Amino acid sequence: MLVQNKCDNYTQFYKKLQRDPLLRNKFIDALTTNETLWFRDNSFFDGLTNVIIPQLIENSKKQTRVRIWSAASSTGQEAYSVAMLLDHIGRRKNIRFDLNKFTILGTDISPTALQKAKMASYSQMTISRGMRKDFLNKYFVKKGTAYEVSPDIRKIVTFKQFNLKDSFRSIGKFDLILCRNVLIYFSDDLKSQIFSKMRDTLSKNGYLAIGASESPRGLTTEFKQFRAGQSVLYQVN
Ligand SMILES: C[S@@+](CC[C@H](N)C(=O)[O-])C[C@H]1O[C@@H](n2cnc3c(N)ncnc32)[C@H](O)[C@@H]1O
Repeated sequence: MLVQNKCDNYTQFYKKLQRDPLLRNKFIDALTTNETLWFRDNSFFDGLTNVIIPQLIENSKKQTRVRIWSAASSTGQEAYSVAMLLDHIGRRKNIRFDLNKFTILGTDISPTALQKAKMASYSQMTISRGMRKDFLNKYFVKKGTAYEVSPDIRKIVTFKQFNLKDSFRSIGKFDLILCRNVLIYFSDDLKSQIFSKMRDTLSKNGYLAIGASESPRGLTTEFKQFRAGQSVLYQVN
């Protein structure tokens, strides 16, 4: 990239990055791994299905809004998977269930991933990576060779660019935060800072989910484990 952009050294390239937002976005895309799939990690989604989502639906009867944050949302599959599950379980449990009481915010540092998430249109190949047949029929509209997430689901999901290294002050409080398969790329120091900011961003009794290979052990003592079936989430101590 240095050569492509006619820079002789990293200092010049860094200065160019600061001046040029398009180049900055291209650089971010080159650095990030956007690997994701629908309902990634079966045991985690079993825990959501059987424990966490029923709890959030129960809370929605008393709260005006239930807020969920997919904090490294990549191309959107995680956020839409949760939205579809919410609708599916809510309707099964209660005919007065109102999906519009829920909002899901998806954030990511990668502008290209976010653009795809906002389009909500997925190829057959992407759909084949984890999408359930019954949900495909229920929550997608076929447009040519692509599958578009249905308007009812899209209505509760929004996406915006956000760097987990930045301050969380403006982001508000959440009842469930998914910060999965992204911490592995960060230093221990940065992970500790993010755990600390997550603590302040969780609402009372809120849940934090991280990836199966990620752990707060040795980085923070501010969270306790919460078992949801086979999966482990975290709550503030
Ligand atoms: C491997 S994907 C995980 C996606 C999804 N959470 C999942 O588990 O399937 C990691 C995502 O983290 C994003 N990411 C990397 N560094 C980030 C940062 N500093 N702030 C926000 N997102 C970041 C990447 O752009 C990428 O989309």
